[in-house]
Amino acid sequence: MPELRQRWLPFSGLEFPVSARGPAYGERHALYQRYRHKLVINPDLTRALVSFQGNKSAPFYRWFKYKEAFSSEFITYILDHFQVHSGKKWSVLDPFAGVGTTLTSATKAGGQATGIERLPVGIAVMNARLKADLVSIVRFRQTLARLRNECIHNDRPQQYLFPHLKITQKAFSPETEKGMSVYHGFVETIDNPDVRFLFRFALLAVLEETSFTRKDGQYLRWDYRSGKSVESRFDKGAITEFWLAINRKLEMMLEDIEHRDGGRFSSNATIIEGSCLSELLRFSEESFDLVVTSPPYCNRYDYTRTYALELACLGYSEAQVKSLRQALLSATVENKSKRARLAKLYKSLDRESFYDQMEECFERQGALREVLSVLRNARDLGMLNNNNVPAMVEHYFFEMNLVVHELARILSPGGHIVMVNDNVQYFGEEVPVDLILSEFALHAGLKVDRIWVLPRGKGNSSQQMGVHGRNEIRKCVYVWSK
Ligand SMILES: C[S@@+](CC[C@H](N)C(=O)[O-])C[C@H]1O[C@@H](n2cnc3c(N)ncnc32)[C@H](O)[C@@H]1O
Repeated sequence: MPELRQRWLPFSGLEFPVSARGPAYGERHALYQRYRHKLVINPDLTRALVSFQGNKSAPFYRWFKYKEAFSSEFITYILDHFQVHSGKKWSVLDPFAGVGTTLTSATKAGGQATGIERLPVGIAVMNARLKADLVSIVRFRQTLARLRNECIHNDRPQQYLFPHLKITQKAFSPETEKGMSVYHGFVETIDNPDVRFLFRFALLAVLEETSFTRKDGQYLRWDYRSGKSVESRFDKGAITEFWLAINRKLEMMLEDIEHRDGGRFSSNATIIEGSCLSELLRFSEESFDLVVTSPPYCNRYDYTRTYALELACLGYSEAQVKSLRQALLSATVENKSKRARLAKLYKSLDRESFYDQMEECFERQGALREVLSVLRNARDLGMLNNNNVPAMVEHYFFEMNLVVHELARILSPGGHIVMVNDNVQYFGEEVPVDLILSEFALHAGLKVDRIWVLPRGKGNSSQQMGVHGRNEIRKCVYVWSK
């Protein structure tokens, strides 16, 4: 795959170590010196490009606000950069597909796209995109008209009760719960399965705006009006009335469905519901020309809490949410080691030697050993605000090491892997996620072409800033090739 022009600047703004207490030598410093010339600031990579912001008003992407997504323009930028859409057929994979931004944009550009996603919320959004290609516009429009006629007085019989989880109790006003119940009853009367799916999906897509919650950075924040005892008096502002929200959503969906252009998504996208930690093993070598992805960051972010309303609405029980949390890539302090299970999986596939090589790469990664040792010492001295942070970091890298090795295996020669990820910091110590993962990539036989650094990094948390001073942490896009 050829590459386009360059207007990147040498990276010099953030010198290593950014640690307020770490020494200017050691494994991480040596690693940084090795990769210094690969780190370049790419002024094209604004934060809007690698975040959901750019999707807010784009057709289809605007159906569901998934703050963890990157923008469709980011994919277009990458496809242009590698000129993949010129000439022959090409295929792209996103092993952490989220709501399918990679798939939607790549299929639009003429590629074959495969996405793996474990969170049912992302799967529902991708399936809605699929249905959007297939659904009869006339039937959708008629059903919307019927909804307006039949539900206008909000007085249809209500049998449905929103299936709350413990942490979603009190998320809606009684009026909203009543509206949801009436709406749910209506959806059950829809005969056409595609229309029914999309109307059900519309409910999923208005939960946040009609609730007392907001997905804010790391948490699901609760408005004081919910009656939940919350520490700070958070006011999310106007809360959209249920019928207004659902009508607006369905109108928006209809508008996009009316303007769909040929149904490329449904014929060229493959959606796999599962964990990439096992699903990647199913692909044979050299299956994809390009991988564009953004894994969860190693930042304690818990998707199952942030998307608790949606999971409840999808019928997830407490036990199912718990097991879902464990199935996701380890990035929370509650995640337990998946190591024994993964070892067993490789053994059952007669791939023990591949597994052993990966394990050795993981065990020998000096900078990672250094980070883990600093964090464990801090934990033993009672200086971490959560004692499971070292284990979380360890699990994160163990699993990402496996992902990187599998991606290297299934990438075609000449192909590229593009990965968006943030570095993180604990106890004032930077964890150079970009460099450690690039070391794994090298071990897996890939070439580290460069690490694009976003012009603006990310500040450390206010809690950490108070103790360790202000550090800017690199936000990066890695470019590896085979
Ligand atoms: C940063 S988001 C990616 C968002 C995506 N780029 C988009 O535009 O929608 C990371 C995604 O990885 C998913 N994920 C976490 N663990 C996973 C696993 N083991 N297998 C597959 N997906 C996983 C999360 O549910 C989340 O949707």
